[in-house]
Amino acid sequence: MKATAIANANIALIKYWGKRDADLMLPNNGSLSMTVDGLHTKTTVEFGDFEADTLTMNGESVEGKELDQVIKHLDLVRGMANINKKAKVASENSFPTAAGLASSASGFAALSVAAAKAAGLDLDEKQLSILSRRGSGSASRSVGAGFIEWLKGEQADGDDSYGKQVATPDHWPAFRMIVAITATGEKKIKSRAGMSQTIKTSPMYQGWLDTVPADLDVVRQGIRDKDFTKVGETAERNGLKMHATMITTIPTILYWNPTTIAIMHAIQDWRDEGLESYFTMDAGPQVKVFCLEKDVPELQKRLQEIPGVRETIIGKPGQAARLVEEHLF
Ligand code: PMV
Repeated sequence: MKATAIANANIALIKYWGKRDADLMLPNNGSLSMTVDGLHTKTTVEFGDFEADTLTMNGESVEGKELDQVIKHLDLVRGMANINKKAKVASENSFPTAAGLASSASGFAALSVAAAKAAGLDLDEKQLSILSRRGSGSASRSVGAGFIEWLKGEQADGDDSYGKQVATPDHWPAFRMIVAITATGEKKIKSRAGMSQTIKTSPMYQGWLDTVPADLDVVRQGIRDKDFTKVGETAERNGLKMHATMITTIPTILYWNPTTIAIMHAIQDWRDEGLESYFTMDAGPQVKVFCLEKDVPELQKRLQEIPGVRETIIGKPGQAARLVEEHLF
């Protein structure tokens, strides 16, 4: 009853910010992301005669809220499989945890795939996406490969709210995301608490919701047509609109640091010169830069020269979450 899975992180081109059902993790809006090869979580789950559920992350024992979330997720799997054994879980990230790099997405996707298998369940991609969603909304987009739309869904039970493939990684192999790491500490406000506070207090929130469906249509079609300018412009604007709702939350949620802002200015200047790329940020100060493969060397060089940029990671359209043979313990 032991299984190991690897799941990639995903970076949203059209963002998710706000839930209509916090228990089932149902979103107020649809979102669309790229599964990113190069940023992944590997997780081993074993159900057995243990006294309690335990979790290690990057080799260190984890307790408290994070462990509670994992136990809650294991309970879902135990319920589905009709087992009551405790679990030993070990997880490793290939990138800084909880600094706005979608570690919860790859984390819950890897946990879902490994735990389902270890519990003897045979779930398809849609079911695994729904299960992952219950752990962290954006994890629903880390199960599939390439470009994935998380359907908002209409049903109260959430069975129509899952990650659906828009295009395979092979469809647009030249698409790249350069992640510029500007800080390595844990973020101050987790997305879960942040989005619920935004819904309660930001006067911009409704405006955000009203414009997402049109942005989704443009980016979905832009990906199909491989229209880089259309996808980039719309994704950049969509991300800024989400941050407008964050900044206008009471108390304000400001994830950017001075380096984040320096990169935004630089990208706009480079674009004016003809070097085309677009930026997006999530619940943290890192900047994700969309570009085409041909421009990666120049952009990476320039990004690394910006004071405050600690590291850059190149991500390309990634493969789906998968089971692997090499366990972590
Ligand atoms: O699923 P969560 O709770 O990690 O929320 C993700 C929210 C953003 O990363 C800010 C946007 C997104 O769609 O990924």
